[in-house]
Amino acid sequence: MAETVKAILGRHRRSRDSLIPILQDVQKEFGYISPDSLADISRHLKLSENEVFGVASFYAQFRFTTPGRHSVRVCLGTACHVRGGATLLDTVQTGLGIECGGTTADERFDLERVACLGCCALSPVVQIDGKIFSKVSVNKLTELLKFYE
Ligand code: FES
Repeated sequence: MAETVKAILGRHRRSRDSLIPILQDVQKEFGYISPDSLADISRHLKLSENEVFGVASFYAQFRFTTPGRHSVRVCLGTACHVRGGATLLDTVQTGLGIECGGTTADERFDLERVACLGCCALSPVVQIDGKIFSKVSVNKLTELLKFYE
């Protein structure tokens, strides 16, 4: 077991109630929940790996693949969806060859869809590394993705 995971587990009670806080700490430390971390958590809490994965996969905040150097978040909230958010998501998925929750093979980008970034008046919105890009078109998005190495 990795020392960091061991330290995280040591900070929490061996109780099912600790599952979410442990997952949050592991996600914060590593940026994702690896298969090894999942197994360690499972053993620590005496829950099956299926159960741990089932709970973790219910929440969008947890990732199961290594994060990329750049994080792309495409908003598919109502305002963004109406103004072409799904087309933008298709553009990223096709352009990068990954699905939501995935990371490109060169670890350049990871991709998530989000429900609303809280700036609907600027829709459709894409967030890259925390920066909001507003009124994004397919062409603008394609150019943006080229800009990030
Ligand atoms: S729906 Fe996209 S920012 Fe609100």
